[in-house]
Amino acid sequence: MKIKEIKVHITEEEVENRIKELGAEISALYKEEAVCLICILKGSVFFTCELAKRITSPVEIEFMSVSSYGAGTSSSGVVRIVQDLQSSIEGKHVLVIEDIIDSGRTLNYLLENLKTRNPKSLRLCTLLDKPDRRVVEVNVDYVGFVIPDQFVVGYGLDYNQQYRNLPYIGFAEIEE
Ligand code: IMP
Ligand code: MG
Repeated sequence: MKIKEIKVHITEEEVENRIKELGAEISALYKEEAVCLICILKGSVFFTCELAKRITSPVEIEFMSVSSYGAGTSSSGVVRIVQDLQSSIEGKHVLVIEDIIDSGRTLNYLLENLKTRNPKSLRLCTLLDKPDRRVVEVNVDYVGFVIPDQFVVGYGLDYNQQYRNLPYIGFAEIEE
């Protein structure tokens, strides 16, 4: 299977403007208190960097990598931590940064896992949300854009590890 065509759905300018808004909202919430951003590799790298630049509260950035077993266009529900955090989040305000919430399985697993580490607060910010695909309920605090049930690439999102570097978000038409 390969991508036949990519149609721009959210332009670079629209993404950047929305990230500025999210940054302002997040800064208004944490104010002078420090927040630890947990960037979920690899999809949310681009989003995390741009968002972090728009947050005026003191910020720490941590990385975590989870695998939901599968190279296709949907997750399997079996989640594994491939790379864990390098420091403790106990007593910290934590904001998990995700690229997209689809079935919700990855985030559901991850949030339950992070909760056991006793952060001061635990919130979730996602660039994209596909609510039509939800299988497991996830409490999302900040959403960049709600999108329909179509496969997207760009701004960190991949198809078989490619297209992450597109500066916009596009609908991918996949050829069998
Ligand atoms: P979930 O566990 O089904 O919510 O899956 C979330 C993960 O699936 C995301 O972090 C992405 O890696 C991947 N994913 C889901 N939908 C898309 C998409 O439209 N494009 C690219 N990756 C996607
Ligand atoms: Mg991902």
